[in-house]
Amino acid sequence: MAIDCMRNIPIMLPKVNQMASKDDQNKPFVFDASFLNNQSNVPQEFIWPDNDKPSTNFQVEDLPVPLLDLQGFLSGNPEATLEASQLVRKACLKHGFFLVVNHGVNDKLVKNAHKMMDEFFEQPLAQKQRAQRKLGEHCGYASSFTGRFSCNLPWKETLSFQSSTHDSSSSTKTVQEYFINTLGHNFDHLGKVYQEYCEAMSQLSLSIMELLGLSLGVGRQHFKEFFQGDESVMRLNYYPPCQRPDLTLGTGPHCDPTSLTILHQDQVGGLQVFVDDKWRPISPNFNAFVVNIGDTFTALSNGRYKSCLHRAVTNNEKPRKSLAFFLCPSKDKVVKPPSELVDEENQRVYPDFTWPVLLEFTQKHYRADMNTLKAFSEWVQQHRDHHQAMEIN
Ligand code: OGA
Ligand code: NI
Repeated sequence: MAIDCMRNIPIMLPKVNQMASKDDQNKPFVFDASFLNNQSNVPQEFIWPDNDKPSTNFQVEDLPVPLLDLQGFLSGNPEATLEASQLVRKACLKHGFFLVVNHGVNDKLVKNAHKMMDEFFEQPLAQKQRAQRKLGEHCGYASSFTGRFSCNLPWKETLSFQSSTHDSSSSTKTVQEYFINTLGHNFDHLGKVYQEYCEAMSQLSLSIMELLGLSLGVGRQHFKEFFQGDESVMRLNYYPPCQRPDLTLGTGPHCDPTSLTILHQDQVGGLQVFVDDKWRPISPNFNAFVVNIGDTFTALSNGRYKSCLHRAVTNNEKPRKSLAFFLCPSKDKVVKPPSELVDEENQRVYPDFTWPVLLEFTQKHYRADMNTLKAFSEWVQQHRDHHQAMEIN
């Protein structure tokens, strides 16, 4: 099914929890985990179809992913760089997931970024809603995406914001300004931490782009240059405990439509990747970032590198947090593979596009899943054919 429980028009959902009083009937449904967790039943909207339900009663082995020590590469050692690029290549041809350690990001900063998440998400709902994400937008506070979808809702809250920290003046503090503008000066310290965190992520992602370029044989600079001045997105994922982790999902199965994701998960665990017909966990490692290829990079690699299906499961004990940085090119960059990756045997797999068009597709027309890029390519093609036909007539 191409459009999965998508709400195409901004309609208000009635409250679905059975306990809602009559006066509540006209208010939009909100995901308030502290309330829902005291109910005996999980509302139907959160219950996933049988084939998506997580199996919680047996231990599955972790997905074997390479653990890349970036120290040698970051300090300019040629052998270490070659080795790192070979490991990256192997992982990206198979599933697109790998871990990085000795990445140069200060662990105090990472700890602080988690601490600030507690500060934000432990607030009463009404406070968080001051940053409420509006329909059709991709930044702000969202509880379970209740406005966008009507079924298979994820058991989570998120706060997303634009991480672009680049400007010709280089003094723009986009993230800090976002926190002050939406939440006020009391949240300045959160803004500062996430500003610094986003800058570190942007820098790390550009270094990883060098490795990806080397690993694809297109040179160190190609993708790094492409992503200079990135307009990336940062998302804080907060998964409250759920009384029925066997029925629900924190994040449903999806491929990231973005280019590269750098995720830091806390010690709770819940991330799973679908490889060889099995959901396999990637266990927490505080010193490591989980890196994965997104659909946009799959297109840049002309289909060589995989953007793999993943999800997050819930648990009934404690909240789980993850920090997700999604690398995105600047708006005007045309996403097309470098000429070295296109030839007689390797024809173009995806059409040219710009990131904002794919983003809009996933926000308004299509719920990201494993077929996003294919569906998007067809959609782009249809629109182009339509426009061409209009021009001819
Ligand atoms: C995401 C995602 C997984 C996690 O935010 O896109 O896949 O473990 N998150 O939080
Ligand atoms: Ni994801």
